[in-house]
Amino acid sequence: MSEGARDLVDPFGRVVRDLRIAVTDRCNFRCTYCMPEEGMVWMPRSEILTFEEISRIARICVERYGFGGVRLTGGEPTIRANITELVSQLAALGIDVAMTTNAATLRNIAPALREAGLDRINISLDSLDRDKFARMTRRDELDNVLAGIDAAIAVGFDPVKINAVIERGVNDDELVDLARFGREQDIEVRFIEFMPLDATDEWQKSKVVGQDEIVARLGEVWDLEQVPARGAAPADRWRYADTGQTVGIIPTVTKPFCGDCDRVRLTTDGQFRTCLFATDEFDLRAALRSGETDDEIAARIEAAVGTKWAGHQINQVNFIRPKRNMSQIGG
Ligand code: GTP
Ligand code: 5AD
Ligand code: SF4
Repeated sequence: MSEGARDLVDPFGRVVRDLRIAVTDRCNFRCTYCMPEEGMVWMPRSEILTFEEISRIARICVERYGFGGVRLTGGEPTIRANITELVSQLAALGIDVAMTTNAATLRNIAPALREAGLDRINISLDSLDRDKFARMTRRDELDNVLAGIDAAIAVGFDPVKINAVIERGVNDDELVDLARFGREQDIEVRFIEFMPLDATDEWQKSKVVGQDEIVARLGEVWDLEQVPARGAAPADRWRYADTGQTVGIIPTVTKPFCGDCDRVRLTTDGQFRTCLFATDEFDLRAALRSGETDDEIAARIEAAVGTKWAGHQINQVNFIRPKRNMSQIGG
């Protein structure tokens, strides 16, 4: 932790130390579980935080509260112009810099991202079947994504992980194939329970394939042992007894992990959120642009964290969906 830093603690005693930064709301895919096919209204450029504004918020979190890392998300972070410049600015803070991407263009830019100081990368891959991939993402880009995964491994991001959102009746027949792909590539695949953050409001509980079912399906093929102690990470992990490799599941719906959450988020337009599912946002862009000092901005961050709730309410009757979808909040 930087000298003079202190823990940022929420009302439930959780220490907040992870910032997820959405750098654009735009995307070159249109995944059905995230965006509509057409008709997204993009944020105007003037509302989007500049790299200097993003880096300033990150620096405040690092210097004052000892945040150890940030993750760049979107939309699709690689389509923000000059993204490598932002990676360099963040890496200069001496923290771990990670990215979550769809990897459509990664084969071209992986070396530059690595050189700029990106440490870790998570790549979305929901199907290994070209037609199904194209249906789910509404783009025929499977080969480019696979090339992007190869490039990520080749340039040495460590780790490289795969994220697969599983939807019942859509790609749950590929659980074993996707897990096998991870074993062959020697990278961790994480299966993500479908969350109610799609733009078209088609989420239903019946479309969620839960953690227990996923473990049972993989367990029919391989011997698995659960890895103890997930810490604050959203994924529960299992080890393959034969190879020692791991596979993960992010069980937001059936086994919420909110009690261990250590994260906060900054949206592309500079709104600070204390939960993926939060219904309130705190306007840091206005604070930045009205000339507030670091002390004043830090006070806003502390006030926001003071409202962090115990957890999302997906499984309760009073669950209220956030007004924005995943690509607007940041994954
Ligand atoms: P590492 O564990 O550091 O590799 O990253 P991560 O899993 O936190 O990041 P990634 O962006 O790959 O997220 C994987 C999935 O977890 C995505 O669907 C995210 O939206 C989801 N996720 C990330 N943070 C949270 C969170 O705070 N709550 C919930 N419920 N899901 C989250
Ligand atoms: N449910 C679960 N995961 C989602 N993602 C996007 N939308 C959803 C959803 N509705 C995932 C992406 C990516 C990460 C940023 O969020 O697949 O892995
Ligand atoms: Fe784009 Fe990611 Fe949303 Fe897919 S999930 S449309 S890749 S932002």
